[in-house]
Amino acid sequence: MANNSQITSVLRETRTFAPNPTFSRTAHVGSMDQYRRLWESAKDDLAGFWAEQAKDLAWFKTWHTTLEWKAPHAKWFEGGLINASYNCLDRHLIAGQNNKAALIWEGEPGDTRTLTYQMLHREVCKFANGLKRLGVAKGDTITIYMPLVPELVIAMLACARLGAVHSVIFGGFSPEAVADRNNDSKSRILITADGGWRRGKTVPLKANVDLAMEKSLTIEKVIVLRRTGQDIVMKPGRDLWWHDLTAGLGGDCPAEPLDSEHPLFILYTSGSTGKPKGIYHTTGGYLLGAQYTHKLVFDIKPDDVYWCTADAGWITGHTYLVYGPLANATTIVMYEGAPNHPSEDRFWEIIAKYGVTVFYTAPTAIRAFMKWGDQHPKRHDLSSLRLLGSVGEPINPEAWMWYHETIGGGRCPIVDTWWQTETGAIMIAPLPGAVTTKPGSATFPLPGIVIDIVDKDGKTVGTNEGGFLVVTKPWPSMLRTLYRDDERYQKTYWDQHPGIYFTADGARRDEDGYIWIMGRVDDVLNVSGHRLSTMEVESALVQHKAVAEVAVVGKPDDLKGEGISCFVTLKTGIEATDVLKAELRDFVVQVIGALARPDEIRFTESLPKTRSGKIMRRLLRDIASGHQITGDTSTLEDYSILANLRSDQE
Ligand code: WTA
Repeated sequence: MANNSQITSVLRETRTFAPNPTFSRTAHVGSMDQYRRLWESAKDDLAGFWAEQAKDLAWFKTWHTTLEWKAPHAKWFEGGLINASYNCLDRHLIAGQNNKAALIWEGEPGDTRTLTYQMLHREVCKFANGLKRLGVAKGDTITIYMPLVPELVIAMLACARLGAVHSVIFGGFSPEAVADRNNDSKSRILITADGGWRRGKTVPLKANVDLAMEKSLTIEKVIVLRRTGQDIVMKPGRDLWWHDLTAGLGGDCPAEPLDSEHPLFILYTSGSTGKPKGIYHTTGGYLLGAQYTHKLVFDIKPDDVYWCTADAGWITGHTYLVYGPLANATTIVMYEGAPNHPSEDRFWEIIAKYGVTVFYTAPTAIRAFMKWGDQHPKRHDLSSLRLLGSVGEPINPEAWMWYHETIGGGRCPIVDTWWQTETGAIMIAPLPGAVTTKPGSATFPLPGIVIDIVDKDGKTVGTNEGGFLVVTKPWPSMLRTLYRDDERYQKTYWDQHPGIYFTADGARRDEDGYIWIMGRVDDVLNVSGHRLSTMEVESALVQHKAVAEVAVVGKPDDLKGEGISCFVTLKTGIEATDVLKAELRDFVVQVIGALARPDEIRFTESLPKTRSGKIMRRLLRDIASGHQITGDTSTLEDYSILANLRSDQE
């Protein structure tokens, strides 16, 4: 849950930032009154409101029923036929935007490519024809495990074009994690690259795939893009090169008209149990959420140069690197590598070079920039920027102020956007031309989104009282279920308060109605804006032969938001050594991926448990974060354990 700095920050945080009148004058929503009217009218007729917004998309056939809601299952725009790839490409060509830059891409070594809408359309069609050649058809699942190169976007849009369902796996995941996801999604084809660039080194994507394939039961073919040129092994009959597959293929491939509720993608994310959840999104509603929120929250205009720094392996990349901006015919910037390669000013150099106007990144990155020092941004001309965004975790007011002043030059509104893989699109954020911001608050729900903050009985809590953030009405881009696990879908999101969506985030409303997100209330960690469940790390560690029992908790971390702290008991006869600590850390990386590397491993003789045998996580969290233990510990099984742990800390 919230780290303690939040409470003090809030007390201190009285600064407010009203929208600049010049900005408001041209904004899509230009005043608080207009926002309020929109929100109120939407709330009273949600179906009508969203039906009106959906006219901004191109439909092959109009829907007959805007919303069918049989809680917790929603169907949006039933009877409508649509294609996401068509909406991101073809319709812009028809509107004469052929030669507008769609994608300005820069690789980490400094190579660059620009694809116009026409060129992107052509590449997507060619690759879709390649997939057809392999027999890919509507409804097939396809795994994408690639570096952040244009072909990643091309692959996603090619799947969408055919009605194949993509499951993108972030390139930082381990072979084991890739195999698990392949098997769960029953994916037929895997698209990868020889490698990608990260901090001057190559990431061995294809080698990881080779390992993953030993355990992947359903994958028939592996398509390999040549990116780094590093040595790899191609398995005859199974592996084929992207360029061979597409050689000689035409650049025309009509987009398949799909039911609005046809699945667009599955994206795996961590829940509070060990097994990742396959978040299942469909076409019409998701695309509308992406397009509508991208336009409003970033106040997108035709000549914007928009850069979202997220990898396409996360939901932020899906919605705000690919589908939202391309549906709005925006010019997007995409960068493959690390922010500090070859030096700490790489991002600012890119902003100056391409004249980026809208920049969307994560608090963890902002805190790293702060640490690296003002001299890096100061060296570059950032005057093209007109709006800044933040996502992934609560942004602390200090980071907000630094972002505002040092990057935004004091003139750019900041949109702090709250949402989740499950919500598909931004739910709470200031509309930049309308809402006066307070550093650290995501402010108000967007028009069409109805939320509340409630206690465990579902009753609305009072001003400045903490409670559970819930969404009380269905919205178009909501997840439809968990892939092949509808029971877990119901249990995870709908059983706490029947009929309303449980976000697993804590929040409060201040005296002006502003929403302050306080962090997760379940066993999900937020490490550098990435979700990881404590159970996932625990189940990785107990697979190690030296380990008897483990409890994993989060601990506050200045840069990453949360760090991973592991309490480990060893099997009898195994010696607790620093070498073993290092080995266990590496072991977690091997099982899940580098993003889950534990920050600390603490050996303990036994774990503190209640009489009924439940591990006392609150206590461990307090120990991990170095707090005084003030809670009631009278249910501890063995007081000496506490003492052992504490002395280990010294
Ligand atoms: C957290 C990322 C505070 C939150 C889009 C949520 C935030 C989880 C914010 C979802 C924000 C995201 N302020 N917390 N602006 N944005 N979160 O699924 O705990 O990777 O539940 O989606 O990130 O993470 P996910």
